[in-house]
Amino acid sequence: MMERLDKFIAGRTEFSRNDVKMLLKRGRVTVNGNTVSDAGLKIDPGKDSVTADGHELVWRKNTYICLNKPDGYVCSTRDGRSETVLSLVPEDLMNKDIFPAGRLDKDSKGFVFLTDDGGLAHRMLSPKKHLTKCYLVRLAEKYSEEYEKAFESGLAIDCGDVCMPARVCGVSHDDHFALVGLDEGKFHQVKRMFHALGNEVVSLFRVSIGGLVIKPDLAPGECLEILDNEIEKMLSEFDFSDVLKFVETSFYLLLTNNDL
Ligand code: URA
Repeated sequence: MMERLDKFIAGRTEFSRNDVKMLLKRGRVTVNGNTVSDAGLKIDPGKDSVTADGHELVWRKNTYICLNKPDGYVCSTRDGRSETVLSLVPEDLMNKDIFPAGRLDKDSKGFVFLTDDGGLAHRMLSPKKHLTKCYLVRLAEKYSEEYEKAFESGLAIDCGDVCMPARVCGVSHDDHFALVGLDEGKFHQVKRMFHALGNEVVSLFRVSIGGLVIKPDLAPGECLEILDNEIEKMLSEFDFSDVLKFVETSFYLLLTNNDL
């Protein structure tokens, strides 16, 4: 399928469309060995060889997206009553095979991974993979350090469900916030875990999937294409203390940006 040159470069590098315009103007882009300046030039990503600053840009078959999900959208491809997260994917990233890999509740916010790569999604969602997901949670009552032992020992929640050992930690800026790390995704799990401990979740924001954290200034409802090295990060070793450091550093930005 033919694609605009500026879109192709912006989708495969960290250059924005405006950066790409500048690269083209300065003669830093080639197509099949010829310097080009037309941003709208149609190329065949499977056949044409494109370089930016001398680096060959490789065609990527699949699309990987980080969406900052706002409140009110459902994580499915179709819903009779509510808008789905697919309605937030911009036209230039959209194709008929894109779907959300994993779910957040309608009233939850934050990192949703969307892709058209069924194989990768299947591997990610496999219970064997234990891809940890972290949530920044505002609680109705103050956080208690006693939650840590309860989460670590496998909390029994309602309907006889027992959770896998999980991580939880307070956030130094505000004693009504906690960071939770889960290796599984039971229905309404975080809400049910705090409910079992006599507290309630007021708002919930997914901060990370595996080793990849959301960009703290990504506006609610916005999508960012995820680059190959970030996919590797997402699937690689996860460290709860790294995510906690990120949350401590970006706390007020996350709060105001997402109305938590
Ligand atoms: N736990 C919840 O309760 N809700 C979510 O959306 C995700 C985890």
